[in-house]
Amino acid sequence: MPPETMLSQGVSVSKVITKEELCLFEQVAPACGIIIFGASGDLTHRKLLPSLFALAQENLLPKQFYILGLARSPMSDSDFQAKVLDSLGQAATAAARQDFVRHCGYLAGEYQDSKTYEGLRQRLGGLDGIYETSGRHLFYLSTPPSLYETIAAQLGQSGFADSRNPEAWIRIVIEKPFGSSLATAEQLNLSLHRVFREKQIYRIDHYLGKETVQNILMFRFANAIYEPVWNNHYIDQVQITAAESAGVEHRAGYYEQAGALRDMFQNHLFQLLSLIAMEPPASLAADAVRDEKSKVLASLSFPKGCDWQDGVVRGQYAAGAVDDEVVPGYRQEPGVKPISTIETYAALKLEIDNWRWHGVPFYLRSGKRMPARTTDIRVVFKHVPTSIFQPLLADQISPNILHFRIQPDEGIALRFEAKHPGPKLCMSSVTMHFDYEDAFGIRPPEAYARLFHDVMVGDQTLFSRQDWLSHSWRFLDPILECWAKEKEAGLAFYPAGSWGPAEADDLLQKDGRQWLTT
Ligand code: BG6
Repeated sequence: MPPETMLSQGVSVSKVITKEELCLFEQVAPACGIIIFGASGDLTHRKLLPSLFALAQENLLPKQFYILGLARSPMSDSDFQAKVLDSLGQAATAAARQDFVRHCGYLAGEYQDSKTYEGLRQRLGGLDGIYETSGRHLFYLSTPPSLYETIAAQLGQSGFADSRNPEAWIRIVIEKPFGSSLATAEQLNLSLHRVFREKQIYRIDHYLGKETVQNILMFRFANAIYEPVWNNHYIDQVQITAAESAGVEHRAGYYEQAGALRDMFQNHLFQLLSLIAMEPPASLAADAVRDEKSKVLASLSFPKGCDWQDGVVRGQYAAGAVDDEVVPGYRQEPGVKPISTIETYAALKLEIDNWRWHGVPFYLRSGKRMPARTTDIRVVFKHVPTSIFQPLLADQISPNILHFRIQPDEGIALRFEAKHPGPKLCMSSVTMHFDYEDAFGIRPPEAYARLFHDVMVGDQTLFSRQDWLSHSWRFLDPILECWAKEKEAGLAFYPAGSWGPAEADDLLQKDGRQWLTT
């Protein structure tokens, strides 16, 4: 028996525990203060406050905690508390909501003004005394990314990044985008590292907080039957789709600078890819997992160019219809340049050049204004080597497909061939389903709740590490540069409500394959 078993980052138990005990094992975060920069924004209202409340309801927030919102808009504590109440909607009971709101306060200030941080020091001094936090502070930057470096520098200059108290911890959480290229991502990293150590930096990707995404690790490494076939001997191809029926909505200001590759691939899709393709980690410790994920991106082969024949497709939605509703094209959306060449759709054919995956294509696609909102991963196995069911040939027998439904209808399905009942030799494809809601009787919780909790207990497993980010940008930079040069040439338009441009279909047809959508 090992003298100590690592449960997760920083937590070890000195005996072997049962599956049931493991499940009961909950880490309640220690008393701390949560300081949200950008507290008057949409993300705080829609996701952060409801997630913190959900944690409080699960008894996963410490009894002693406070939330201090910080933003430019002038607001009193009670104005902010009213906004918090509004964010919570009808969740739990009125008494529980009131109790939560009592822990919330507000400070108005300009992010680049040192006076704001003077004010912050005074507020935190008082609150830390009341809530006995021992100086444990979680700074959540829910501001435009252009402010990250300024805020980090100000926090450093004002002495908020370190503490002499051995019980204190100070952590900073930032949201994507983490730069817009390798150079800008590394610049941002450098600025953060001038003030904080890597152990203090939590780069959030909300996809990693989704239950179905976390389950990929358990599915792959807590079941013995998949690992032996998880390689180029048995797998023919992998498809990853993140489709949205919504358009750019009110986010043109951001999206016009980003586009699908930066918005969805650099982070969410590459995280899914890393989890599906990584080697078994040495343990569940954050760096063991992140080492393996990094290696996946480090092994990507670079495309030769940025054309669909090179495995790179770029599209933009034109006017069309989604759910029977006529919708405008991207260029007609409010705030979008009428000659914008930003991609609202991208597809990539990726090759991971290592022993496990050499020769297996990974097809990734993501787009706005597609027929449905769906994110999934399909692992398509090879055909049987030969058919004993003559005259049916081996390639007429449908291959097995393992289908991870990330959202909606969260679950996993396995397609296999079965015999029709009766004396004739009739074969059909059937599917075995596992559905989260049916199996566990609950809907998967909000991703941000899990991620907040991990920050408070100091577990970085589900957060992006800088070397992983650098690999992702190193891969995407040449494509983005090529697109910037090509402008409209090579940009394929697709009608809103369709599955993307014809070039994306050509990409797979060239390989004798097709996108799997049903
Ligand atoms: C965000 C992107 O990170 O993810 C959005 O900026 C996108 O453009 C969203 O709509 C998708 O997230 P989800 O959880 O709805 O799949």
